[in-house]
Amino acid sequence: MKILLCALVAAASAFAALPAYAQSAAAPTPDMPRIEHANGRFAMMVDGKPFLLLGAQIHNSSSWASALPAAWAALEAFHVNTVEAPVYWEQMEPTHGTFDFSNVDLVVTQAREHHLRVVLLWFGAWKNGQNHYVPEWVKGDIKTYPREITAYDKVLDVMSPGSPATLDADKHAFAALMHHLREIDGAQHTVIMVQVENESGSVGSVRDFSPAAQKSFADQVPAELTRTLHLRAGTWSQVFGADADERFEAYSTARYINEVARAGKAEYPLPMYCNVWIAYPVHALENRDRPSAGQEYPSGGPQQANIPIWKAAAPAIDALAPDFYSDDAALFRDVLAAYHRDDNPVLIPETRVDSNFGRELFYALGSGAIGFAPFGIDRSEIPAAPSSAVTPPTGAEDPANNFAVLKPIGEQIARLNFEGKLKTAVEERGTERQTVHLDGADAVISFGFPQSDGAMPPGTQRRQGRALVAQLGPLEFLVTGFDASVSFVASAEDKARNEQLEILRAEEGSYVNGVWRPIRILNGDETDRGLNFSGVQPVVRIRLHKIPLLNLAPGSP
Ligand code: DGJ
Repeated sequence: MKILLCALVAAASAFAALPAYAQSAAAPTPDMPRIEHANGRFAMMVDGKPFLLLGAQIHNSSSWASALPAAWAALEAFHVNTVEAPVYWEQMEPTHGTFDFSNVDLVVTQAREHHLRVVLLWFGAWKNGQNHYVPEWVKGDIKTYPREITAYDKVLDVMSPGSPATLDADKHAFAALMHHLREIDGAQHTVIMVQVENESGSVGSVRDFSPAAQKSFADQVPAELTRTLHLRAGTWSQVFGADADERFEAYSTARYINEVARAGKAEYPLPMYCNVWIAYPVHALENRDRPSAGQEYPSGGPQQANIPIWKAAAPAIDALAPDFYSDDAALFRDVLAAYHRDDNPVLIPETRVDSNFGRELFYALGSGAIGFAPFGIDRSEIPAAPSSAVTPPTGAEDPANNFAVLKPIGEQIARLNFEGKLKTAVEERGTERQTVHLDGADAVISFGFPQSDGAMPPGTQRRQGRALVAQLGPLEFLVTGFDASVSFVASAEDKARNEQLEILRAEEGSYVNGVWRPIRILNGDETDRGLNFSGVQPVVRIRLHKIPLLNLAPGSP
């Protein structure tokens, strides 16, 4: 008994001596911001309610007192509900173990004044596949905090992910940040999520070739990884063949970042994600069919082909979230498909503010996205004022109008998407009319105006048509869109069952604190050829009912 007691006391004091992140993770309080997951769908929950993150990221050097005033103005003009703002390790820990949270405090306090939520971006060991935000005491001491070495012995500006000292320093700083957040925001939840590192991976080499990394690379792939991925045991080269270098880098990076996230969550368990510099296809030369890891994108980040390794090695990361900087709609759909998994919510934390913005947003919402945010909102990347020869952006093309329309119904969109009741349609060449199947009705969506009886809709010059239909109840829908009309018709099966649909009531309005507030009933020209979404975009709640298609009563002809 005495021995047992001693052992218990020893174990307890050893436990107490451990840093918080090595102890069990802090339990989330019921209304902590969190990501809910059920039936392969996800919802961000903020203060106990579904929350659609309509955000924007400020520029890299904007989390400073001198730059924030312009940022708030830009964020307001874009109708966001959330700001994504960087936290700089070099500023936050200028000397080892001394912390300065003044920039963080500024972002959080001023966001509250502007009624915005915050996603903080931890610019730690990785920023765009390089180490540029590590403090001077890390940058200047490559003996203690080693760099990646290429196969040709070049020393890179990338931290070696296998270095225990760098990991320790990074996670200590990140844990201090999360501890501070709990203190200043634990009750208020202005900060709803944290990005761990930024576009991690290695720019300059497919993997680390330092002596320590070479030794690990020659080892067996950890059994836990091969087991989870259902692969046979062996060395990295045996298991992954030609992809071994990149997969090794992915595993090392994911393990490191998982430890950083775990340390942070132990202090304050906010949802955490990693953004991704994705692998874009190479179109330049006929046989150059694959982009090269470490050259065209940071090797070992959570790119499309590395998702399984990241999911296995970084369970503390709630979402792998692709940044998207292309105007290729087909590629965007491929990227959504790659990251829209039963174990991964769709979150687009960075994209361009251009005329594709609305189309990408609606595609993402149709894939169940929990959030969407353009990058660099505080210096507009919208093309300069058009010359008289160029058509100026219309309502449908102005990126800010998307959030203006969706923000008031964000809670409903998040909830209905979580319940699997939301569908979107986006115009593409040759698909100027699309049918979306709902429970009890089909929505026929026609893009572009004018729309004439008996003619196909004209579409829009720059493929700007898009619409969203969400099912509120049996034959009741919430609808909005841009450059589109939306009509509800009975499905082919219902028509075969002698049924047709009729509008009972169509209301234009919005939600205020979760309660629908109609402003007028739409009828006549506003409903006879479908609900029209042109000009100023309304949100419409429409209720239908079924009546017989043909009078088949006995005695009828
Ligand atoms: C992606 C990065 O994540 C951002 O921080 C920023 O550098 C943008 N690229 C710039 O386009």
